[in-house]
Amino acid sequence: MAATDVVRAGAGPAPERAYEELERIFAGVDAPFALVDLDALWSNAAELLGRAAGTPIRVASKSVRCRSLLANVLATSGFQGLMTFTLPESLWLHGHGFDDLLLAYPSADRGALAELARLDGDGRPILMVDSVEHLDYIEASLSGEPARPLRVCLELDTGWWPLGGRLKVGAKRSPVRTPEQAQALARAIVARPRFELAALMGYEGHIAGVGDHPLDGRLQGALIRWMKRRSVAELAERRAAVVAAVREVAPVPIVNGGGTGSVHTTGAEAVITEITAGSGLFAPLLFDRYSSFSLTPAALYAMPVVRRPSGGVATLLGGGYPASGGAGRDRLPAPYLPRGLRFDGQEGAGEVQTPVIGSAAASLRIGDRVYLRHAKAGELCERFASLYLLRGGEIVDEVPTYRGEGRTEL
Ligand SMILES: Cc1ncc(COP(=O)(O)O)c(C=O)c1O
Repeated sequence: MAATDVVRAGAGPAPERAYEELERIFAGVDAPFALVDLDALWSNAAELLGRAAGTPIRVASKSVRCRSLLANVLATSGFQGLMTFTLPESLWLHGHGFDDLLLAYPSADRGALAELARLDGDGRPILMVDSVEHLDYIEASLSGEPARPLRVCLELDTGWWPLGGRLKVGAKRSPVRTPEQAQALARAIVARPRFELAALMGYEGHIAGVGDHPLDGRLQGALIRWMKRRSVAELAERRAAVVAAVREVAPVPIVNGGGTGSVHTTGAEAVITEITAGSGLFAPLLFDRYSSFSLTPAALYAMPVVRRPSGGVATLLGGGYPASGGAGRDRLPAPYLPRGLRFDGQEGAGEVQTPVIGSAAASLRIGDRVYLRHAKAGELCERFASLYLLRGGEIVDEVPTYRGEGRTEL
């Protein structure tokens, strides 16, 4: 797989696979298994790069969780660096030669912090902080002086707070919201010789991670579109002021923001030097619910039909892998191929068995496979040790997931 595999921007989305095609390609493979369709993945990569319009994309590792795929995406022009999700993962990737790592979530892992402090290369991972308490904690974890100052990223709260703050829309992440607060924390960082302020990050999950065609209907959709427009405008202004205030203290080179669902709006802000995206490569179910872009499902998993309780029902082995987040219908996986299947209302997708019903169920036989989609991206890889990679009409590789390499992150 090479960078040249990327479908050129403007070529349009890759076509979705047909059931018969997948069954022919995987005839010799026993289910359960998971696959990534590289034709779809590269067409999704081109879509992301098109929306980024020249701003580099940092790849969210948690949304891929496969080292070989991450390396291949990073070999593609337009993608630069990883946004990682745990410190042990960041150190492991660093040990495998990844040298542009921004850890997006604060770490309380004292052993890993002490190990990080022993690294002295320019490619040592950047830690996330949002408070003086974090700085104190990190310093208390060190057994001696760090080999080089620890590089840190200051996280900004991106939430939208209308009605004078009586309503708060957005993830509960950083307490740093205003230019004054950001500047004060920047001063606290540069005052400590063990730290270097390397980056500023704000992830607008309420814009990037919320589709505007929700399962709950049209009214909600209109409200979400309105909220997003307001929040995008408010954040652009505030983020510019925060960056200016922080740069009075230190020449922070990296200003990171966004996610798959906001590549185009985040990238339009002049102060943004890079956008993060990952899920868009796999295009899980949640990303079917956005009106401003369209992707091709690239990551699927296959479960075998193991019994036929009655004419209209085929029962799969397991497959109940709900996604994280506020529990709701939108966190559930869904049968994808063959078309015309749905879960049974009483059982849903289960730990050990999943009955499927609908027009296609009657023709399914024991040993046939049903292909499902996960609601989110990288979490699928926690269920499978490897991913089959497809290109054209054939399997071109089988690569380990993080789990397949013995990693248990989150
Ligand atoms: C800090 C941060 N940035 C960016 C993203 C967006 O990642 P993705 O494009 O995979 O949705 C996330 C997702 O949760 C995140 O936590």
